[in-house]
Amino acid sequence: MCGIMGYTGNNDAREIILKGLSALEYRGYDSAGIGIYDNATGKVRVSKCIGKVKNLASKAEKENISGSCGIGHTRWATHGGVTEENAHPHQVGKVTLTHNGIIENYEELASEFGIEENLVSETDTEVACSVFNHYYNKYKEPFKAIYKAVKCFRGTFAFTIIFEDIPGKIFAVRNVSPIVAGKTEHGTMLASDLTALSLFTKEYMVLGEYQILVMDKDGLELYNIHGEKLDIEYLTIDWDMDAATKKGFPFYMEKEINEQPEAFLNTVEPHCVNGLPDFTEEGLTDDVFKKYDRIFITACGTAMHSGQVGKGLIEHLAHIPVETEIASEFIYGEPILDEKTLVISVSQSGETIDTLTAVHKAHEAGADTLGIVNVHGTAIARESDYVIYTSAGPEIAVASTKAYTVQLAVFYLLAAKLALVKGRMTEDKCRSFMKELMSVPEKIKKVIKDKDKVHKLATRIVEAKNVFMLGRGLDYYAILEGSLKLKEVSYIHSEALPAGEIKHGTIALISDETPVILSVTQDKLAAKEISNAKEVKSRGALVILLIKDGVELENEDQWDAVYRLPADSDELMIFSVTVALQFIAYFTALDLGLDVDKPRNLAKVVTVE
Ligand code: F6R
Repeated sequence: MCGIMGYTGNNDAREIILKGLSALEYRGYDSAGIGIYDNATGKVRVSKCIGKVKNLASKAEKENISGSCGIGHTRWATHGGVTEENAHPHQVGKVTLTHNGIIENYEELASEFGIEENLVSETDTEVACSVFNHYYNKYKEPFKAIYKAVKCFRGTFAFTIIFEDIPGKIFAVRNVSPIVAGKTEHGTMLASDLTALSLFTKEYMVLGEYQILVMDKDGLELYNIHGEKLDIEYLTIDWDMDAATKKGFPFYMEKEINEQPEAFLNTVEPHCVNGLPDFTEEGLTDDVFKKYDRIFITACGTAMHSGQVGKGLIEHLAHIPVETEIASEFIYGEPILDEKTLVISVSQSGETIDTLTAVHKAHEAGADTLGIVNVHGTAIARESDYVIYTSAGPEIAVASTKAYTVQLAVFYLLAAKLALVKGRMTEDKCRSFMKELMSVPEKIKKVIKDKDKVHKLATRIVEAKNVFMLGRGLDYYAILEGSLKLKEVSYIHSEALPAGEIKHGTIALISDETPVILSVTQDKLAAKEISNAKEVKSRGALVILLIKDGVELENEDQWDAVYRLPADSDELMIFSVTVALQFIAYFTALDLGLDVDKPRNLAKVVTVE
């Protein structure tokens, strides 16, 4: 959460920082700010405002903030409301600073350092800034000041700091919250993640926890927290730099929905060896898999929804008991884990703090951990015993689409692999399962081709205040995700329920024209689901059916809208219904004139508990 960007070199820092911040906006967009060292006055001049980076761009231009060394920030508010005072950078004395993370003990520190009276914002960051300034005044040199200050902080942080009397240099230090940095021909830069850095360079380094990065126009230097110099290991960005652009689509969300067939194949193909699922590259040999007699899946939001499908599949195909637990509950609960339990954590960003803490907790309990992660080199990937990378490429829209689909794909592979290893599936059966899996992209493409038809369905719910979604079995898991998607991008309240459950209370909310979307994709459950549809229809609901092609439907005209999904085996239908539900959410938000990619109050990367 929050995006930070810094540049020092020979070029215009404002332009570079604003460009980087725009790319990082998906990490938070409550307010934005920039601080640039002004050669004429020897001061860092700050400009900040509520709202998005484009507001900041015009304000900073009007205020003529310019120079060649500066830091910027786009904020997702944690401590303190969305105000200009609470926006970053913060300035105290000689220190100008931006921060991503949370300093949990900021109130104690404010009283310990006697600064409560002087604070102009309500933020933990301003307190941290005062602590840096206190030690900088005391020791008159940056390393000792940074060392002393970070020793005081409890919580997570990525700080970028300019000391006013050290012109041209930017210092950075972090714990948990990420920082990557790189150099170009004209200077050096750092950012919260590669989405911003990749606009300028392909070569980068990852700042380690409690290391200090010092940047100037000539290069990067790395130190440990005691100020001893370290070697820098440079890595190369291996994704298509063009992938983080909209490529002609009006929103990233639509572009990312369209990218799903390719993302699916990129994820599945490398794990299909001689027609069978394979994870030996990741160190997950048959012997490793044989070790586990229980699996725990933990994640948040959409990633958790993929985990729920994973549970269904692994139990069905491999007969291994699987529990799922939302990461924020897992970490404060008492999950029963031991060395025969594999804890799978799922995360697109690889940074979600609750999921990361769950990995730590699993280790403490003696369990092995497997991360299913999209962004390479991130904390969850680094700290898990095993990691399977999904290959969605950069996902920029805040609402996750392609990352979810490829998480599902990994669970299909894992379930098949476990079934094979545990002797619940023959090699022949597994080969035909894999063959069918490979045909999923064609089904997804068919739904993408039908997007105008799906758009028509969305027009039926655009004015609703509440929507209900019903399904059984895998259909229930599909609508859990579909319902979250609709809520987050359209702001229409939506509730997903097992279809058989509605008459145990919620049906009281169904009245004339209440939209109810049913997912009917499971041959063995279709009749039951259709009879649940009739129950709500007879109470006046506006019923939209997403139904597998071939499933018999008497008197199709009695339903308000019907969309036929390309037929596949029951197990694989979730992919096409997911895409239809993604489009329903997308078009509803689009027709409501909303900023689909940046829904209010949300951020792509959730690094606070
Ligand atoms: C919703 C969405 C979120 C994330 C959740 C976990 O569209 O994207 O629910 O799935 O915040 O994020 P990651 O996967 O980065 O751990």
